[in-house]
Amino acid sequence: MTWCRAVRTARSAAVFVFGVVGAAGCGDDGVTPSPPVPEVTWYRDIQPLVERSCASCHDGAGVGGVALTDVETARRLAALMALRVGAGDMPPPVLDPSCRSYEGAERMSLTAEERLRFDAWARDGAPLGDPSDAPPPQRATDAIASPDATLEMPEAHEVTLDDDGNEYFCVVLDNPFTAPAWITAFEAAVGDPAVVHHMAVYRDLGGDAGIGYGVAPGTRAFPCRDPVIELDWQLLHSWAPGVGVTRLPEGAGVRVEPGEQLVLQMHYFGRRGTSSLDRSGVRLQLSSEPPRAEVYMDVFGPVPFTIPAGAGAHTERSSTPNEGPPQLVYGLLPHMHLLGRSYRAWVERDGGADECAARGEFEFHHQALYMFDEPLRWGTGDRFVAECTWDNTAKSEGQFQLPPQDVPWGEGTNQEMCFMVAYLSKE
Ligand code: HEC
Repeated sequence: MTWCRAVRTARSAAVFVFGVVGAAGCGDDGVTPSPPVPEVTWYRDIQPLVERSCASCHDGAGVGGVALTDVETARRLAALMALRVGAGDMPPPVLDPSCRSYEGAERMSLTAEERLRFDAWARDGAPLGDPSDAPPPQRATDAIASPDATLEMPEAHEVTLDDDGNEYFCVVLDNPFTAPAWITAFEAAVGDPAVVHHMAVYRDLGGDAGIGYGVAPGTRAFPCRDPVIELDWQLLHSWAPGVGVTRLPEGAGVRVEPGEQLVLQMHYFGRRGTSSLDRSGVRLQLSSEPPRAEVYMDVFGPVPFTIPAGAGAHTERSSTPNEGPPQLVYGLLPHMHLLGRSYRAWVERDGGADECAARGEFEFHHQALYMFDEPLRWGTGDRFVAECTWDNTAKSEGQFQLPPQDVPWGEGTNQEMCFMVAYLSKE
């Protein structure tokens, strides 16, 4: 790096923190004065962030609507981008990687410095800079190379959004298994990315999916408002835009049986009036040999509870001791309902060595399953603590009744939950 670039880089870093502008007097040959260099440019500083952390929803086809990957759109919306990024609601909040590192963390979140960079760019008038400054493209395209099975909706669904722009729709998938199999990786096969906001795969332990939603036995497709109201549905996988392939570690797998009922739940979201025919599904990587570790899903969290009307930050907590052999936790999906504000989970050990499992702001419309880089050990005698905080004031973004009422624990959207859904196995 030349001396001038070094100065410029150091000064750029200062800009993000202190808002200093101007780097005059540093010509390319280090002698001739030249006009001030724009501090933050599209090509060098912003486009790489947009490709990395926004494109999965904002490439024109995705749920974000506006194509921020298009330079003219990005320049026009520079101030709005800075505002949404600065407020912390774009990209949508995810598990805080400083609590625990997980697959895709650097893609799904921005550092404090990167957030300020959007602001600096907007305030400088959104300069383009020099295309040759652009780093090599690095949009993530993670995929299962050759899936062993693809479970798809039997036919395309005509998406019909309600006044708030949502539709929840469930389909019983064909179960292709003729012998027990172990799923080692899941990949969402998104039909129409413009409307698919979230999808989840469940197994219905009773084999009677739809009964809780009041449809006739044997119905293959039915509306199924989230949160799931059938208590015998066990979550196998959950996906939201921006999340890549869910891979279990080497030697671990989720068992599926022939004949068991697999249900795909779709959450569609978009502007009312958007028309779409969607046919989504899930691609699987399988192992026909029993893996070393059979992975199961379990939930941690307090039950039951009541959130008092008007409470701005009501917190509930559970502590679950491991009374059996040591377990490993491979990943977590924090789950609350509309009033959810934030969550925390950790393993508490005798002697005070606590280990963070999850921490973050909660966003109902962006629930993701996070796969840890290193499994978390829940040893014999260790306590798994799960904690959630809700906002039940009139101003709460998710408030659905005015004046606010006491909200009990329960499966309905007008009730609340605090679950850390976990992938676990014996150590
Ligand atoms: C997981 C999907 C997702 C990601 C990733 C994401 N967004 Fe969004 N974004 C949305 C959705 C959905 C909306 C529309 C709803 C809303 O405004 O909250 C939106 C809206 C916006 C808007 C308002 C657009 C308008 O016309 O009103 C801006 C600006 C924005 N996003 C900026 C960003 C930036 C910048 C990034 C990356 C740093 C980003 N978003 C990453 C999903 C996403």
